[in-house]
Amino acid sequence: MNFKGKNVVITGGSTGIGLATAKAFINAGANVWITGRSAGNMQKAATEIDSPNLQTVVSDTSKLAEISILEKAVTASGNKLDVLFLNAGIAVFAPIEQATEADFDAQFNTNVKGLFFTLQKLIPHLANGASVIFTSSTVATASNLGTSVYSATKGALNKIAQIAANELADRKIRVNIISPGPVQTPGLDYAVPPEAKTYLAAATALQRLGDADEIAKAVLFLASDDASFINGAELLADGGFINYALK
Ligand SMILES: NC(=O)c1ccc[n+]([C@@H]2O[C@H](COP(=O)([O-])OP(=O)(O)OC[C@H]3O[C@@H](n4cnc5c(N)ncnc54)[C@H](OP(=O)(O)O)[C@@H]3O)[C@@H](O)[C@H]2O)c1
Repeated sequence: MNFKGKNVVITGGSTGIGLATAKAFINAGANVWITGRSAGNMQKAATEIDSPNLQTVVSDTSKLAEISILEKAVTASGNKLDVLFLNAGIAVFAPIEQATEADFDAQFNTNVKGLFFTLQKLIPHLANGASVIFTSSTVATASNLGTSVYSATKGALNKIAQIAANELADRKIRVNIISPGPVQTPGLDYAVPPEAKTYLAAATALQRLGDADEIAKAVLFLASDDASFINGAELLADGGFINYALK
């Protein structure tokens, strides 16, 4: 796919799905900004990608003041954005009886509030005809044990994305959702123990975890002109995870 000269922002672009997507956009010719909280993760990502077309912004998406740091970087470039990939997210799994207020707030502040206000602040910087993609999850549809708060964040952001698709349509801005199933990333390693990863692979029709590069390819498709009549849609990239559970 060709994104030569296109300007792309990826929140949560320093590891996992975001990093794989940043690499894919850079390889397709785009100029890419990535964000994340940790300067160390960011430095590692920059070293790995090693491209003059990559810019890094250390910014915690759960804090409005730090979203402004990203907005200022985009403003300073003088460029309009062609693609906004709202991907930053965290997962903390626990049964309802054990979930803490701190974990509840961290997940909603990152996965919902952060994405919402990043979109709000960057709308004026989007080119007409731009593409916005939200990273949701199969959990927005499934009802997996121990995922109540995380699943609720993804359900909420699906609704925000669908309404954004309607509100931004007059500028020909398409807004879509990518919903990965279980994907091997540092985030998954952090969220679940190794035996749970084995279970998740076995619960997927393709009998394996996804690779972050496979999600990146789906994101580039949604961002491309090949998806020009796809708007307000949720694309499952889950190896058949949801349907396999229902078989
Ligand atoms: N892996 C899966 O199985 C899976 C499945 C479905 C959906 N997802 C979703 O996919 C997205 C990416 O997850 P991943 O698996 O690739 O996890 P990951 O490897 O942990 O990547 C998460 C990225 O987001 C950044 N991040 C986290 N909190 C942030 C914050 N408050 N502000 C800015 N950046 C932040 C992280 O960098 P720092 O830590 O340095 O901030 C990192 O760059 C998430 O939205 C997740 O919910 C993942």
